[in-house]
Amino acid sequence: MQLEPGLLFLFLLPPYVANATPVIFGGGMPIDLGRKWIDGRRILGNGKTYRGLIIGVASGIIVSLIEYFGMMNAQLLYIGVLSSIGAMFGDMGGSFVKRRMAIEQGRPSIIMDQLLFIIFALIFSYPLLIDAFPFLLSIESIAVILILTYVLHRLMNIIANLLGLKKVPW
Ligand code: CTP
Ligand code: MG
Repeated sequence: MQLEPGLLFLFLLPPYVANATPVIFGGGMPIDLGRKWIDGRRILGNGKTYRGLIIGVASGIIVSLIEYFGMMNAQLLYIGVLSSIGAMFGDMGGSFVKRRMAIEQGRPSIIMDQLLFIIFALIFSYPLLIDAFPFLLSIESIAVILILTYVLHRLMNIIANLLGLKKVPW
């Protein structure tokens, strides 16, 4: 199936924004309320907060709304909302798995940090993507999404680190 860069961009933008805005505007009360799992480690850790979650989902939805009014395509709106929620869910899932692997909050883990959010964005929006934009689910497209997301995520985190938004460049 033919790869359509424009649509790929429109698909990726809401979950990317949802994943990025908490770094700037997040903080405060942790989602796990400081509670620990049976292994004695935090369930998610201090890096996953309610404010970050709400701001992430809300900013992803705002981008989806802009895309909707720009393209007048309701499917883009629904897909953007689902993929933004999926991105934040994947981000939390990544922290959960990292804590279970005894990786401290803020320490790097390639797949959890860079890729789980976009994998969950794809899973959450899959039921709509399969009807509306099936080409986005082709092997070639998934490969492009994973490689592009990895490279962009690394790049953005290095920039965020240089700007002083993040203490570490990942
Ligand atoms: N953030 C937040 N709420 C979220 C996600 C992120 O407040 N739901 C903020 C936190 O300040 C967090 C920062 O964005 O420290 C960077 O996010 P991320 O790299 O995902 O978290 P880490 O602090 O690295 O923690 P973890 O090891 O659990 O990934
Ligand atoms: Mg991190």
